[in-house]
Amino acid sequence: MKLKIIETSDGSQTLYVPELNEQYHSMNGAITESNYVYLEKGYLFHKSKTPIVFEIGFGTGLNCLLTALFAKKQKRRTTYFSIEKYPLEKGIVRQLQYGNNISKEAQTIFEKIHDCEWNKPIQIAEYFNLVKLQSDLIENDLKKVQNCDVIYFDAFGPDKQPEMWQPEIFQKIYSLTATNGVFVTYSAKGAVRRELTACGFEMERLPGPPGKIHMLRGIKKNTKILRTETNRTPNK
Ligand SMILES: C[S@@+](CC[C@H](N)C(=O)[O-])C[C@H]1O[C@@H](n2cnc3c(N)ncnc32)[C@H](O)[C@@H]1O
Repeated sequence: MKLKIIETSDGSQTLYVPELNEQYHSMNGAITESNYVYLEKGYLFHKSKTPIVFEIGFGTGLNCLLTALFAKKQKRRTTYFSIEKYPLEKGIVRQLQYGNNISKEAQTIFEKIHDCEWNKPIQIAEYFNLVKLQSDLIENDLKKVQNCDVIYFDAFGPDKQPEMWQPEIFQKIYSLTATNGVFVTYSAKGAVRRELTACGFEMERLPGPPGKIHMLRGIKKNTKILRTETNRTPNK
């Protein structure tokens, strides 16, 4: 896959994928979008002191970096799972300026996030443990990812990669979400909202980041219990 580094309107970079005619982040600001959709409406909205986060689409590691910085700021011991089918080449990662544009510490964390091994829990910083799963979301049964408090659903758009936005995928994600877990995505598509509602998430449409009217947030209020022969109340 050929990729091009481009600048977005808040001065931060993103990657453009000519094959899909799609970017990794919004052209209206990559850092702005990540901070708003995933951090503000997801991570900071959930109140756990020890949150487990699951990100779909590790990509440039930007959401991961911003979460690690907030984990330290808020002293919340965070476990972060992220799945990625196509890890970026080191050459491209080296050119991304996310860390240096924020602080020296952010730069060190960004390098650690990228240099660490895949498929292994790694302590990146005092409050931040990372498990990068090099795997296909569609094929992985996600048994290693359980009880997640915050889901960052950051796949390429439903029009570009519809196979990532299917009911079976959302059901898999619903089952690994903890009660009161929060699901956030930049997409506000009606079909996506309906599928997530059908899984059991209580969905709301929130104002979107710059350049987007809406985004979606879902909450798993309680686990849906399927009625089976064994849990049915016997007739008196
Ligand atoms: C919108 S980008 C993610 C941006 C990322 N969250 C960031 O902060 O840079 C979508 C990501 O999903 C990955 N992806 C595409 N198909 C996938 C699949 N079947 N399983 C896992 N990841 C996939 C892409 O390689 C890409 O990195």
